[in-house]
Amino acid sequence: MEPGFHTRMLAALHWAVDSIWLASEQVTSLRRLQILVTLGPEAGANTAFISTAPPAVLSVPPMSFVEYADLIQEGDVAIIFMGHDSMFPVKVQQGAQTQTRYGVIRHSTDLIGRRFGSKVTCSKGGWVYVLHPTPELWTLNLPHRTQILYTTDIANITMMLELKPGSVVCESGTGSGSLSHAILRTIAPTGRLYTVEFHQQRAEKAVEEFREHKVGHLVTVLNQDVCKDGFGVTGVADAVFLDIPSPWEAIGHAKSAIKRHGGRLCSFSPCIEQVQRTCAALAEHGFGEICTLEVLLRVFDVRSVSLGLPDFGPDDPLQAGPDAPGEGGAPGTPAANATVTCRTAVPPREMAGHTGYLTFATKSLV
Ligand SMILES: C[S@@+](CC[C@H](N)C(=O)[O-])C[C@H]1O[C@@H](n2cnc3c(N)ncnc32)[C@H](O)[C@@H]1O
Repeated sequence: MEPGFHTRMLAALHWAVDSIWLASEQVTSLRRLQILVTLGPEAGANTAFISTAPPAVLSVPPMSFVEYADLIQEGDVAIIFMGHDSMFPVKVQQGAQTQTRYGVIRHSTDLIGRRFGSKVTCSKGGWVYVLHPTPELWTLNLPHRTQILYTTDIANITMMLELKPGSVVCESGTGSGSLSHAILRTIAPTGRLYTVEFHQQRAEKAVEEFREHKVGHLVTVLNQDVCKDGFGVTGVADAVFLDIPSPWEAIGHAKSAIKRHGGRLCSFSPCIEQVQRTCAALAEHGFGEICTLEVLLRVFDVRSVSLGLPDFGPDDPLQAGPDAPGEGGAPGTPAANATVTCRTAVPPREMAGHTGYLTFATKSLV
C-alpha cells in the first residue's frame, strides 16, 4: 500500500465526518467510533487524530424527538410527569432549578446524567418521573401559539396520508408545530417536511424549536403565504396537509407540490362550509377519492364498584328457613350486606366533541 495512504484517508474521513457533524446535529460520535472499527488495526497509529471528539459525547447519542436517548444531557427537553393530567416540559440546563408542588428539581444533580424514565425525588420528598419527549407528549405540553391538532386527528392523518420513513410532506400552516413533530417522527430518518407559515414570529419560533428538538435537519420552514406563493417546491411531495382558514385557495399549489405520479392530500377545517368549498376545489383540480370524516374519541373511565349480591333463594326449598346453613333469613331476603367488588369501564356521560373535519383526496397519475 502506498506510504501515507492511511493518513491521507483518515484525514479525508475526519474532514468528511466533521463536515457532516457541523451540517447535522444528528450525526453522533458513534459514527466516529464505527469508522475506527472499520479501518481496523492498521489505522491504530492514527487513532489519536481521529478521536478528537469530546469524550463525553463519544458514548452518548443526544436526545431527539425522532430517536430515543438513554441519558439526560444539558440542552435536552425532558417532560416532568406528575400524573396523566399534570406534566410539563423543561429545558435541561446546568445550574437551573425547576419548582414543582413536590419541591425543587435541581437540573445538575437530579437530571443531568440520569436515565430518561427515572423517578426523581424533589426537595420536599415527593417524586416525579422524568420522561423522554415524544410527539404525543409534546402535543399535550407544547406552548400554544395557535389552535393545535391533537393525537386523535394526528393518528388518522398520518395513516390516511400513508406517511412512512422517507416520505416528503408539505404542510401549512405550521402553527404551534403539534402536527409537524408527529410528521417528522414518521418520516425520519430520510424524509423531509416543508412547512409554510405566514406569521413571522410563529415561523421563527418553529425553526428554533425544531433545532432544539434535534429535528432541524429534516424540515424546511418557509415564512410565506401558501395561498399566494405555495410550498416553495414542485413535484416532490408524497403528501400535502392543510390547516388554514381558506384551504381551497391552496389546492392548486398543493397539486403542483405533489409528485407527478401522484400523492395524497388532507385538509383540516372546523366548519362544514369550508369543507364544501375545499371539496369543490379538489374536484376542479382533478383530485379523486375525495372523502371527509370526523374523528371522535371515547375514553372509558376504569373504576372499582361494589355491587350488592342478589338473593335468588335457596337451591333446595326444603332447606329454607332461619336455620338453613349459609342463609341469612327468610327465603327471598338477600344475605346480609353481601357485596362483590369488581373493576368496570364506564363510558363518559359527556365527551370532547367536534374538533374539525378531515378531508382526504388523491392526486392520481392521469
Ligand atoms: C390552526 S394553526 C395550525 C396548527 C397546526 N396544525 C398545529 O398542529 O400546531 C393555523 C396556522 O396557519 C397559519 N396560516 C393561515 N393562513 C395561512 C396562509 N395562507 N399561509 C401560511 N400560513 C397560514 C396561521 O398563521 C396559523 O399559525
